Amino acid sequence: MGAGGVILGDMSKKTKSPKKRSTGARKPAMNSVGLDAAKAASLTDGLNGLLATYQVHYQNLRGCHWNITGPTFFELHAKFEELYTKAQTFIDELAERILTLEGRPLHTYSAYLKASEVKEQRDLTGAKETVACVMADMGTLIALQRGVLRLAEDAGDEATATLVGDNITVMEKDLWMLRAYSGK
Ligand SMILES: [Fe+2]
Repeated sequence: MGAGGVILGDMSKKTKSPKKRSTGARKPAMNSVGLDAAKAASLTDGLNGLLATYQVHYQNLRGCHWNITGPTFFELHAKFEELYTKAQTFIDELAERILTLEGRPLHTYSAYLKASEVKEQRDLTGAKETVACVMADMGTLIALQRGVLRLAEDAGDEATATLVGDNITVMEKDLWMLRAYSGK
């Protein structure tokens, strides 16, 4: 210390910060579309789980479309194509909704297989087993979509709720038709 013990510009002194006014409950952080960011983040997690499951379901449909054999080949080959085309369109809408909510869509096969709620199927060839596989996938997807719908409603996200809600209607109808086709 210098002579006289004078410390110039004492850095140990704390500068007083202006007192924050109490505003009661803290407002949650909002994302760019005006949704609670934390709720939107849980929603995008749910949407990513749905996306991953849909992608595995899509590939299962491709396998059924390619490998189907037997007397119902022509009708099921065409039906599976119709279903995977529908799935492909919805998958893209899901991924882009995740981005709109400021999340990042899963986009690798490894991530899909890890997060999917349905298993990948291989070498299914008969009408019975292919239709049963698609119906089981759809049952899982409908349940997952109901979960996402609840998250969207909790976040006040009408657009996601409409997107997913409308798709549940379409998928439930497809499931009914497959059930009727399989005589169940
Ligand atoms: Fe084809």
